[in-house]
Amino acid sequence: MLKQINEINETIQTLLLLADPSIEMINQYIKTGLVYEFKIENQTIGIVVLKEMSHDSIEIMNIAVSEDQQDKGYGKLMLKEAEVKAKELGYCHLTIATANSSLNQLALYQKCGFRMMAIEKDFFINEYKEVIIENGIRAMDKVILAKNI
Ligand code: COA
Repeated sequence: MLKQINEINETIQTLLLLADPSIEMINQYIKTGLVYEFKIENQTIGIVVLKEMSHDSIEIMNIAVSEDQQDKGYGKLMLKEAEVKAKELGYCHLTIATANSSLNQLALYQKCGFRMMAIEKDFFINEYKEVIIENGIRAMDKVILAKNI
């Protein structure tokens, strides 16, 4: 179950960095975002950060599962729970963004019902100091996916 937290300890920080290599970006959105942890047998293995985009829209700014617990269905479960939280909070539109190079994430989000909505060209080139390569592809464009909830 996702549980909201107010304190960012080392475990949470490590998880946040798994999904987003920029600590500067993370520090910006956790200031105003809602941070949730996901625990299994009393151990934090996942995090989700939600941030309001408009009066009826909220975005999953960060979602991560610890490396040793990936590919076991927890990410999918956390996405479903994040959707329930967003609905409970009164939003009817949920968005999530990833890179053109994040092929597994693009697959996962579409399997969870998200549809591609927009592309922000050159986002990762302009906003990140480091060059990000995944699946042999440079992360350049931000792909924004959305779901009506
Ligand atoms: N093609 C098709 N489906 C794929 C796929 C691919 N290349 N890669 C993954 N999937 C599917 C799996 O098949 C599975 O779906 P299924 O249950 O229908 O088989 C689903 O995606 C993966 O689900 P799950 O096991 O719940 O994912 P997870 O627990 O590993 O969590 C992340 C997913 C992305 C949260 C996790 O891998 C993670 O923390 N990664 C590092 C951080 C990150 O990249 N965060 C997102 C930033 S945008």
